[in-house]
Amino acid sequence: MNSDLEKIILSAEQISSRIQEIAEDINRHYQDTVREIILITLLDGAIVFTADLIRHISVPLRLDCIRVSSYGNSTNPETAPRILGTLKSEVQDKHVLLVDDILDTGNTMKKVFAEVSSKCPASLKTCVFLDKPERRENNFQADWSGFNIPDEFVVGYGLDYAGRYRELPYLGTLKPAIYSQTS
Ligand code: PRP
Repeated sequence: MNSDLEKIILSAEQISSRIQEIAEDINRHYQDTVREIILITLLDGAIVFTADLIRHISVPLRLDCIRVSSYGNSTNPETAPRILGTLKSEVQDKHVLLVDDILDTGNTMKKVFAEVSSKCPASLKTCVFLDKPERRENNFQADWSGFNIPDEFVVGYGLDYAGRYRELPYLGTLKPAIYSQTS
């Protein structure tokens, strides 16, 4: 375990096993009815989850990315989510799946969902690796969710603190001392 971590919440094996289950659900949902999906991943946090998830998805897909900034280096939301840049895909009449690492207040997904929805996709679904239901500030619910977790700040498997720890293959909490260190 990385020495900055206090504890591991989800092991790499638990994560891998759950991702296969989610992918099977997604495959069942789309197979036989949809020729192709456009999978839009929310940078940066979702890249690790997305990379593992898509290798278990059997429905043909095209991958697109959107960058949304909301947290910066803080553990608390500092501003409303901002969508940075634009999608490269034309989503009108396409089957779109939004993928993010965590549903926290729900404000990021709500914003992106509304933005993509306004472009009239044939269908629009959402998939998140983690859900913190206690933190929700709206009624947003993901169609597929990996794990519900309590309201603790977590890092690893794509999630960062001040840009660090995204590469860890497991999910954990940081030692309190890490938050008081600078740079
Ligand atoms: C995180 C995370 C989600 C969002 C969820 O993004 O990746 O996109 O917060 O929070 P919400 O449900 O409260 O809106 P962050 O801004 O930390 O950027 P990152 O993806 O680059 O880590």
